Amino acid sequence: TNRTFTMIKPDAVKNGHIGGILDKITSAGFKIVAMKYTQLSKRDAQEFYAVHNERPFFGELVDFMSSGPIVAAILEKDNAVEDFRALIGATNPADAAEGTIRKLYATSIGENAVHGSDSDENAALEGAFHFAGREIF
Ligand code: GTP
Ligand code: MG
Repeated sequence: TNRTFTMIKPDAVKNGHIGGILDKITSAGFKIVAMKYTQLSKRDAQEFYAVHNERPFFGELVDFMSSGPIVAAILEKDNAVEDFRALIGATNPADAAEGTIRKLYATSIGENAVHGSDSDENAALEGAFHFAGREIF
């Protein structure tokens, strides 16, 4: 489909990068169709990242993602999922290409500034996790 889901993670919010990241996103041609400033509870984070619950870093990931406010958004563009993952760069900012959001704004593999859905199916599920139909434009 033409939609993906993103979060500006607690590290990037704390470090003052909401504006810079939204500018990169809209400058790359993504249209914001839903957006909110919110905080995940520990339980929300466990549910959102349930696919990772066997990974060794799951506890750290849940604690980090619930540690402060985030910006959640649904983005629209042709080829949204793939193009957005290219825009954010590799999971580990040390491996992220020049000019990508993680290269510019992430601090470590755990605190890596942004989330981007990895498939159309997950984009739809993740968007529905955060937004009611009437909040999507
Ligand atoms: P997301 O867009 O956030 O889903 O990142 P990704 O798809 O590039 O990576 P993946 O889905 O494999 O991992 C999800 C998230 O778990 C990452 O974005 C990191 O925040 C975190 N993570 C991944 N690997 C590690 C790790 O080795 N240590 C820690 N602390 N966190 C990790
Ligand atoms: Mg992922």
